[in-house]
Amino acid sequence: MTDRIVRAPRDDAERQRLEAILVESFGADELPWGTWMSRLGHENLRVVIEGGAIRGGLGFYRFAQHWGTSRAPGLSPLPMVGLAGVGVSPEARGTGLARRFLVSTLAEAREEGVPLAALYASSVAVYRSIGFEQAGTTIRWSAPIATLPRGDHGLACVPFDPREDRSLRALYDARARRWNGHLERSEAIWQRIAAPYKGLARGYRFGPDDAPEGYVVYQHEPGANLAFAVVVKDLVLTTPRAVARAMALLSDLRSLATELRWLGAASDPIVSLLPEQTAKPVEHGRWMLRILDPRRALALRGYAHAGHVRLRVHDPLFGDVALALEAKDGRAEVHVIDDAPLRIDTRALAALYAGATHPDTLALMGLAEGPRDELHALATLLSDREPWLCDWF
Ligand SMILES: CC(C)(COP(=O)(O)OP(=O)(O)OC[C@H]1O[C@@H](n2cnc3c(N)ncnc32)[C@H](O)[C@@H]1OP(=O)(O)O)[C@@H](O)C(=O)NCCC(=O)NCCS
Repeated sequence: MTDRIVRAPRDDAERQRLEAILVESFGADELPWGTWMSRLGHENLRVVIEGGAIRGGLGFYRFAQHWGTSRAPGLSPLPMVGLAGVGVSPEARGTGLARRFLVSTLAEAREEGVPLAALYASSVAVYRSIGFEQAGTTIRWSAPIATLPRGDHGLACVPFDPREDRSLRALYDARARRWNGHLERSEAIWQRIAAPYKGLARGYRFGPDDAPEGYVVYQHEPGANLAFAVVVKDLVLTTPRAVARAMALLSDLRSLATELRWLGAASDPIVSLLPEQTAKPVEHGRWMLRILDPRRALALRGYAHAGHVRLRVHDPLFGDVALALEAKDGRAEVHVIDDAPLRIDTRALAALYAGATHPDTLALMGLAEGPRDELHALATLLSDREPWLCDWF
């Protein structure tokens, strides 16, 4: 198809057309796509035009993502685009339009030097077909509030307005450096936390004003007969005292609050803090990662292990590359070489990069060939803590 154009929408009318497609695609009339678009930045929207009309589109967040940032001094999170709001008008589906604008968006980001892309997928197959692979677990947890530990009221607990007070962001940033997969949150993500599309976010800070030890931001979700659920938007706790104060605050809600809900990982900290196994996964999924530029992605991250490995990455979209990787003291030197006996698909590299999938599983999926010990050496080099992408987008 020669007349398929991908570009940013030019005016309100074009954005409204994209909005109408997204409203229909996501099956929910009340989602405020206009707010979503302005938080994202209109320059970060793309539409696909065919036969003179807008048929679909998407938005992307400009993030950075932590991968071993704390493993060596001077490391920074890696630039990453987070794709969201992907939709095609129903009558235009099945003809490659999504593929067209997804590939164009990825190519544009790659051209800018962004080495990674990530997303939450409604269909894994769509994104696998363009080089994404599952990279981490996302679980929506729920636990009865009455089963939280009662905690302790010793530490100060002070309400704050998450829309106004930015002073606690440093606590999140410090945790993010130590958790693989955490975002360096863009303003749009902080807004999602502090000013949700629906309802009010309430914040409580734990510890002295000049040295806070944690905070929680949550929303009420009304149920029947005045009962409500407490939905955690953000929770950062840095000391056992802050944990105890947070648990006291939350369990003090138990006369009417029935349930605590949060987005977590498999090795979830809140689940570990509960005295019994009362947390249940209510939704379980995997987010996906795409390595746009293997050399940069491998050279810019931190490493928990030292070692040397050579690999050839097969990437049907952006071309194959063979690399020699030498990791030492938390960092790696990465050089382009002519070839390597270990051949892995770009999807396998994404899964290994995140430490999300056993290398033998990737071989079973047909995504890795060549010396098995080299494949295992690569997996060991890249393995670190369980990745946790704690923000939805
Ligand atoms: C998902 C969606 C964007 C796909 O749009 P589309 O233009 O029909 O997709 P394409 O024709 O470009 O197909 C791209 C690839 O995905 C595959 N695919 C498309 N729809 C699929 C589906 N529902 N399930 C599985 N695979 C699918 C195609 O086979 C194709 O793979 P291939 O290149 O290997 O043949 C569209 O169905 C949609 O808007 N759905 C509702 C909103 C949604 O789910 N968005 C995704 C949120 S993450």
